[in-house]
Amino acid sequence: MQENYELIVIGSGPGGYVAAIKAAKLGKRTAIIEKRDIGGTCLNRGCIPTKTLIHTTHYLQKAKVMEQAGISFTDIKLDYDKLGQRKDEVVSKIRVGIEGLLKANGVTIYQGSAKIVDNNRICVKTEDGETEIKTENILIATGSIPAMPNIEGLGLNNVVTSDDLLTGEIKQFKKLLIIGGGVIGLEFASIYNDMGCEVEIIEAMDRILPNMDQEISRSIAMGFRRKGITIHTKAKVDKIIEGGSFGLICEYTEKDTRKTVDAQGVLVSVGRRPNIEGLFDENIRPKMDGYHIKVDDDFRTSIPTIYAIGDVIPGRQLAHLASAQGIVAVERIYDKSPSIDLDVIPSCIYIDPEVASVGLDEKEAINLGYQVKVGKYPMLGNSKTLLSMGERGFIKLVCDETDGRLLGAELLCERATDIIGELAMAISKKFTYKDIASIIRPHPTYEEGITEAAQDIEKEAIHMMPKNVLLK
Ligand code: NAI
Repeated sequence: MQENYELIVIGSGPGGYVAAIKAAKLGKRTAIIEKRDIGGTCLNRGCIPTKTLIHTTHYLQKAKVMEQAGISFTDIKLDYDKLGQRKDEVVSKIRVGIEGLLKANGVTIYQGSAKIVDNNRICVKTEDGETEIKTENILIATGSIPAMPNIEGLGLNNVVTSDDLLTGEIKQFKKLLIIGGGVIGLEFASIYNDMGCEVEIIEAMDRILPNMDQEISRSIAMGFRRKGITIHTKAKVDKIIEGGSFGLICEYTEKDTRKTVDAQGVLVSVGRRPNIEGLFDENIRPKMDGYHIKVDDDFRTSIPTIYAIGDVIPGRQLAHLASAQGIVAVERIYDKSPSIDLDVIPSCIYIDPEVASVGLDEKEAINLGYQVKVGKYPMLGNSKTLLSMGERGFIKLVCDETDGRLLGAELLCERATDIIGELAMAISKKFTYKDIASIIRPHPTYEEGITEAAQDIEKEAIHMMPKNVLLK
């Protein structure tokens, strides 16, 4: 085994493993160190298991809707063991694939816990003892862990984080209380609601998804309420105690009124914080930005040979962003121009209907001084949505009034997460709404809604009723 590397990557999530493969492809002697399973949070305790569950439980909802089309399912059962097994099979198949890719590209894998000793040395602690390895550069990609608020009772049985819900057997609850109406909270609300569990969300701000476009968050809240999910906003949990009809009682304050709610399970999903505990020897510490590691535009920390990407640095916490940063960081380490536009970052929420956004929302664009033109298409007028019995939703495009350039897009519709890439490209390549409308999109598809939203900017959408016209 080589013990003198050009690059050592710490952490094998979507940031770390992609960066290691990229460096190996550039011909660099590369190693990766991982203390848990290859694939990091995204693969083992995050995106992949969540989306596997969502994909499956979604059919329970769809089965009910299909009755309108003449297919009735009687006695629909959910086999929780099989659901859990499939989740684990998907995760393990992908993990084997990533391990194979790392090996085939010549990346050495160290299974153990890394401690950065100095600018060029890392101590790896494995089951067999400690090894010291040398390297020219180090890339930190150790990700994040669930943040725990200061609430009494978080140690009680059945008070869980997303990590607990995604590892091992599927946890079944009659009633789940979710603290935090962010991305993780909403995805689990959707899964457990589909499973037939009663779900309540407690969100501290005045709306769920407080960082998203208001219209999207309002529409999701309406859709969730229609499905029977209870949402409390401007509400904060004070403490959780044992008792009540389901085993746990949660005391909370909602708009200055103290209330209680019973639950069998409580999911804490109030954000994630960088996972860097024990990573640095006491003699070495890069400059920090709050809880995060401070980096420059090239992802270099205050220590010239040490770089950092993903959830450990300030910014959005997204798997695809970490991967993109991994590639660009490696390119910058080896004096290459960045091959990816890191300014345009799509984000997605896998609920029903799906949510995806990229660029600026209307309010953000106006706050930045843009004069904006907005085009919006309600997806109930879209043939594919109607024929597939999709939920109500919309596609909204925000453009710069001066030159027509697309500044941002918000999608609340079926397959939004698969469609958003097109709009990310349009923003990155500075396409205008006329460029977007000039493309033939196949019929019937959800994507046709993009054409209509782009046409709506000049009030030229074909499949939208002209406003202020009375039908005779
Ligand atoms: P988040 O930051 O998205 O949401 C946390 C929510 O909890 C916020 O709405 C916040 O106002 C609320 N909150 C904070 N403290 C609270 C308290 N004491 N009581 C009630 N509400 C409180 O964090 P989340 O959902 O934990 O996700 C963590 C990160 O992982 C996010 O950056 C998210 O984007 C990322 N992620 C992305 C996914 C995707 O792309 N589909 C899936 C899952 C996570």
